[in-house]
Amino acid sequence: QTLLRSRIVHFRDDGHGSPDAALEYFEDGVIGFADGHIALLEDARAARARGLDLAAAEHRPEALVISGFIDAHVHAPQLPVMGSYGEKLLDWLEKYTFPAELQYADEEISRRQSDFFIDALLARGTTSAMVFTTSFAHSAEHLFEAAYRAGMRLVAGKVLMDRNAPAGLLDTAERARRESAALIGKWHNKGRLGYAVTPRFAGTSSREQLAVAGQLLRDHPDLWLQTHLSENPDEVKWTASLFPEARDYLHTYEMHGLHGGRSVYAHCIHLSDSELERMADAGAAVAFCPSSNLFLGSGLLKLQKLRERGIPVALATDVGAGTSLCQLQSMGEAYKVCQLGDYPLGAAEAFYMATLGAARALHLDRHIGNLAPGKEADLLLLNGTLNPLLRERLRHCRDIREELFMYMTLADERIVERTYVGGRLAYLSPLAESL
Ligand code: GUN
Ligand code: FE
Repeated sequence: QTLLRSRIVHFRDDGHGSPDAALEYFEDGVIGFADGHIALLEDARAARARGLDLAAAEHRPEALVISGFIDAHVHAPQLPVMGSYGEKLLDWLEKYTFPAELQYADEEISRRQSDFFIDALLARGTTSAMVFTTSFAHSAEHLFEAAYRAGMRLVAGKVLMDRNAPAGLLDTAERARRESAALIGKWHNKGRLGYAVTPRFAGTSSREQLAVAGQLLRDHPDLWLQTHLSENPDEVKWTASLFPEARDYLHTYEMHGLHGGRSVYAHCIHLSDSELERMADAGAAVAFCPSSNLFLGSGLLKLQKLRERGIPVALATDVGAGTSLCQLQSMGEAYKVCQLGDYPLGAAEAFYMATLGAARALHLDRHIGNLAPGKEADLLLLNGTLNPLLRERLRHCRDIREELFMYMTLADERIVERTYVGGRLAYLSPLAESL
């Protein structure tokens, strides 16, 4: 058993609805994990009183243990397009993203880049993610292989697209069915992995292909659906012109059975009240991608409108449109987006959307999302002193909420000293070697 005595913060499973009320902080806490799961979490004094030998624990009073981050929407093949200049969504896809994804036709590139992507997540404290690959089935294979080796809880799928993209990236309705079914058989529920049916967005799939995606979901009710929805005004108009029979953007998915409680729609910025209500009724979740939405000039999500309707929201980087793979930076960008909507996003809510809130939105909270005994031991040791400027600023913080707010607004992956996945040390910062 690994025993860590440190400052510890997470969200309790009770305290529903309010991240602020659920926030639990141990000024001097102890966490123990064994066999991949959390075995104990308590105040150090209470632990000593009931006879736990604290001498066996590693003592890190200056550090902060938190639950691993969950990234609810990210594109594994898009690291090479991060920071691509000058375009909004549809032109950005044409000019930068589709050509980059075409590189994955080469299996060697696909394999190497998938390994690199998983390592990059772990180095930023992201222990779970919901991931797009490319339309090449082998790219999904490679990502699942890398995640399986790392022991991560990861949900991913092969991208479905059979129109409106370069010929080399297009599959067909029938190939989508065949390749998805094979990947589901091989990877869904293998270890900690899960499969998401992944039509890129309505505009790049024929009606036949969307119907195939819907059939896959009916055949396997425990799969996820991930796609994009209402990200950019031109995209919304274009989608309406492609589907004149649909009432609105969400309806293009509803018509084909691509809705329901295990759906995660990225962006959802320009939705009508009717679309929001239907999403709420279906129990669908939103992946909030603030870095991407600012970088591509897509728009500002009204987080409050989703909250009011009880729609689950999970935070996401949406790399390569997002400019950082680090969820701390997503939180900082989320704060700025919410400020522009006159909603001062608190640190508790921001961290919640990247941990327990995301786990709930993705229906993974039985397994991950916080540090409750019994959950899988995906956790981070954060160390604000690894960044000298931040260290000075932290000296003026009065409580844990202020400290967390500094992490989300002023910090980045340099404060991630260690990442544990399933109780195993999966990343150790080179900056920590001098400690
Ligand atoms: N919509 C369809 N494909 C994509 C993508 O790769 N990135 C983003 N941000 N939006 C999309
Ligand atoms: Fe995306």
